[in-house]
Amino acid sequence: MATSARDAVPASVYERLGGSDFFDALVALFYEGVEGDPVLRPLYPEDMTDAETNLRDFLIQYWGGPDDYSRRRGHPMLRARHLPFTIGHRERDAWMHHMRAAVGSSGAPEELAAELLDYFERAATHLLNAEPPRPGHLPIVPGPSEFPGG
Ligand code: HEM
Repeated sequence: MATSARDAVPASVYERLGGSDFFDALVALFYEGVEGDPVLRPLYPEDMTDAETNLRDFLIQYWGGPDDYSRRRGHPMLRARHLPFTIGHRERDAWMHHMRAAVGSSGAPEELAAELLDYFERAATHLLNAEPPRPGHLPIVPGPSEFPGG
């Protein structure tokens, strides 16, 4: 059966952004920001090469490119992989600040830049793991009689 443009699978975001070159550049810009950030830099190892490769491959896979990330690292489990690091609003906002700047300098067309940033906002919020208790949700502490000698 003949195929025509009408049958074509819509191009992935990965393809529309120009493939791996786009993600190489995006992640390099992002880590330049992290390098000088007093909140984020201490969370990362001295050599950030692996962090850069992992984020790049993850994003390529997420947006429809090759699945090198999962071949190397298995299931992303992003929330679990971030639990060793305390991520409060300060860390999330710093991360988003550098990613917003990186997306802004990446040359992505406006519509795709908005799609990327919308995803990053949701993903970064999902990774918060140091939330203070919400008002009205008091932490459960033992009553005085439960303390030894109390
Ligand atoms: C919210 C603020 C965030 C902070 C503070 C943070 C911090 C970190 C740190 C410290 C690492 C470990 C780097 C290493 O040991 O080499 C890491 C790994 C990683 N992060 Fe984040 N991150 C954040 C948000 C995100 C978001 C939003 C994404 C995805 C959209 C993401 C994707 C990744 C990936 C894919 C890895 C590598 C996981 C692996 O295969 O080991 N991170 N992050």
